[in-house]
Amino acid sequence: MKNLPETKLDKIVSLCKRRGFLYQGSEIYGGLSGTFDYGPLGVALKNNVKNLWWKMFVDDREDMYGVDAAILMNPKVWQASGHIGGFSDPMIECQKCKKHFQADNLEDKNKCPLCAGKLGAERRFNMMFKTSIGASEDESSVSYLRPETAGGIFVNFKNIIDSFHPKFPFGIAQIGKAFRNEIAPRDFIFRLRELEQMEIEYFIRESDWEAEFEIWRKHMEEWMDAIGIDRSHVHEIEVPAENRAHYSKRTIDFEYEFPFGQKELYGLAYRTDFDLRSHAKGSSVPLEYYDDATGERFVPHVIEPSLGVDRTILALLCDAYTEDEMDDEMRVYLKLHPRIAPVKAAVFPLLKNKEELVAKARLVYSAIKSEIGAVIFDDNGNIGKRYRRQDEIGTPYCVTIDFDTLADDTVTVRHRDTGKQERMPIGELAGFLKKVIS
Ligand code: GAP
Repeated sequence: MKNLPETKLDKIVSLCKRRGFLYQGSEIYGGLSGTFDYGPLGVALKNNVKNLWWKMFVDDREDMYGVDAAILMNPKVWQASGHIGGFSDPMIECQKCKKHFQADNLEDKNKCPLCAGKLGAERRFNMMFKTSIGASEDESSVSYLRPETAGGIFVNFKNIIDSFHPKFPFGIAQIGKAFRNEIAPRDFIFRLRELEQMEIEYFIRESDWEAEFEIWRKHMEEWMDAIGIDRSHVHEIEVPAENRAHYSKRTIDFEYEFPFGQKELYGLAYRTDFDLRSHAKGSSVPLEYYDDATGERFVPHVIEPSLGVDRTILALLCDAYTEDEMDDEMRVYLKLHPRIAPVKAAVFPLLKNKEELVAKARLVYSAIKSEIGAVIFDDNGNIGKRYRRQDEIGTPYCVTIDFDTLADDTVTVRHRDTGKQERMPIGELAGFLKKVIS
């Protein structure tokens, strides 16, 4: 995996566009750097990822509370969190071509890698997107698009305590968009200006932080196994103090072997009580937990597993993209776990011009679609071509209705990865699919 040819990413990008997973944002106007639009298959894949995360970390637990906070927040939030002062990257401008570079990515900080011109002095560049609230555009109307979903969690800590009186420890979870004015967005959906995150702030006692950190490290590993990210491509890297965010006392980066290098996929941080204390000070509202049993009142500490949705999609596509030979032909298929594949099954009549086959196939299609949802009907071209089309988008099963079906109500189920075919009674189809998806 480490020495993958560079072209693998190009092939994935091209497949994503051709088959409707991802398009460049604002494409017909020449695009907008750092933005991508998810097409029908991309949004289905992304929803499957987000729904599975929500199920695993919110619905299936008793100690987790979900929120969906506003993206626009009072700017005092970002003052208190330290983002106005410190959420910046070192930037260098070329004095000749005027292009900007992230200083950390430059091998030579004196010479422009594009035009060989002289580079200017390094300066800090705040990555938050500024906007104005209301009709006037002065300093008092300035607000920001949130750079992380975590902010919306911390400001709702008191609301969750007041509404739900949660037992301790407990967590607040959120999935949503975040915005970062990246100096150099790059590598498809790896470094975006508009991104999506799945974040949890898990509130704990300070004395428990090391044990809880290990528990959450395991949960993140379980998550990767559940969606089918190959963990032999993931490396857990201890982030040294000088590279950690200002709020963190310990961070592990989960780095994935992307085709363009080993880079951060997820982060796990111990944010101490930095955020609750800062927001309590900034808002003058105490942000504490009162333990009925012990009569203790304290400011909780927090463990934060932070997962980028888009980087999850990219890692999944990199792991899933496979080329092999089948029936003497080169084929491309996405080896996605059936649980997250955008389409679970495709139903085909063997021949398009045999009315009785098409009618039967339509019946089978409607029956399993009403139970599974993500099922498609295809009668276009020969069966081989239809298999290839489904392989390319990762559909795990193709169901063919042939003349035997008319006689004995059985169908052929073809498995994507092996091409193996088995005969199955129509009545067992939905149950079979539900089992492999669940
Ligand atoms: N709340 C903590 C936080 O935001 P982070 O390491 O800056 O920490 C968390 O971001 C995750 O968000 C990353 O591990 C990555 O998955 C994703 N992410 C961050 N910046 C991104 C970008 N520019 N484009 C796509 N995903 C990004």
